[in-house]
Amino acid sequence: MSIGLIEPHGKQLINRSLEGNQRQDAFEQAHALPRVTLSQRNLADLECIATGVYSPLEGFVNEAEYNLIVDTMRLSSGLAWSIPVTLQVPESEAEKCRLDSKIALAHPNGEILAVMTVESKFMPDQDHEAQQVYLTTEDAHPGVKAMKDEGPVYLGGPISLVNTIPYDNFQQYRLSPTQTRLEFSQRDWKTVVAFQTRNPIHRAHEYITKTALETVDGLFINPLVGTTKSDDIPADVRVKCYETIMSHYYPADRTMLGVFPAAMRYAGPREAIMHAIARQNYGCTHFIVGRDHAGVGDYYGTYDAQTIFEQFGPDELKIQPVKFEHAFYCNLTKGMATAKTSPSAMEDRIHLSGTKVRAMLKEGKKPPAEFTRPEIAEILIDSMKEPALSAV
Ligand code: ADX
Repeated sequence: MSIGLIEPHGKQLINRSLEGNQRQDAFEQAHALPRVTLSQRNLADLECIATGVYSPLEGFVNEAEYNLIVDTMRLSSGLAWSIPVTLQVPESEAEKCRLDSKIALAHPNGEILAVMTVESKFMPDQDHEAQQVYLTTEDAHPGVKAMKDEGPVYLGGPISLVNTIPYDNFQQYRLSPTQTRLEFSQRDWKTVVAFQTRNPIHRAHEYITKTALETVDGLFINPLVGTTKSDDIPADVRVKCYETIMSHYYPADRTMLGVFPAAMRYAGPREAIMHAIARQNYGCTHFIVGRDHAGVGDYYGTYDAQTIFEQFGPDELKIQPVKFEHAFYCNLTKGMATAKTSPSAMEDRIHLSGTKVRAMLKEGKKPPAEFTRPEIAEILIDSMKEPALSAV
């Protein structure tokens, strides 16, 4: 299947989904096991592990892997891995999970989804994790807060999916790496650039994605749709925006949309590495890293998420980062540009960002065309009027 395409991270695409009788038997037996209810973040991670988005991970990380990831950004195999994918539970829940035994992992609705063998059960120093991964221990950082809120006991071990994870949205865009790889092959895309975003596509995004597309066969728009902080634009509104902008402003035969199920960590540089690895597993050869990728507040330098790639050798990450400087609308050249391509003075540059657009929308103002395409502005303004849509 992946012949001709970039190899997955660790060479093999992981598939932790049981099939046929094996699946049925494991599902039935799981009802007698101690049960852990998954959070939204866990559910997304479970899907990413099971379908190979997180290859070579086969489960939630055990203690040894956790320590290596946190301190060295590597797995015991030596492969690059920048953020520990953890299953954290309160102490009261952890008591019923015995080492070297199986547990059932359940959806919040009670349905059993997976079985996990508990290889390790540990209580790490969360401040150390926060400092290493997020570069801060402050609870004001949404990633640090989410990590601490998940619980102090970490359960690690391989998982097997024994049921379908139920979703009521974005079904046609929930593509596994096997599916994206097949689709890229069928389109005869040998080089594919992936675009991670947690925002509606604004003009700077459009500029960098199209600039990248000039040099490769295809563009994979791969928005993150897992949990985000409450003031980010909800994924259902964003997906409407992606569909609309793609139908008006992108070439259909060169652009493809698929959602990235993971939760946002806001870990800046370390998250850029994790994002890149996931996109390599989807079959992409290139990955866009712009200004303050996966950043929040002032925790990271504008280009830290680009320079972190220098900490990995050419064989460690097969996917190539495509780095962009801060893009803006240039009043001198009357188009999108960066400092690399425009001679304009600061006062001629309209700097764009998702945060700025959100602030304008909150005030009921329509963002100007230099910020956002009018069709997208309309959707965003409408979404502000429909509490049901934006409450997700
Ligand atoms: S992120 O958390 O997913 O990184 P966002 O959706 O804003 O946030 O950004 C998606 C990608 O576009 C990231 O690689 C980011 O660095 C890049 N980006 C966003 N705005 C700009 C900009 N004005 N100039 C250059 N790159 C940008």
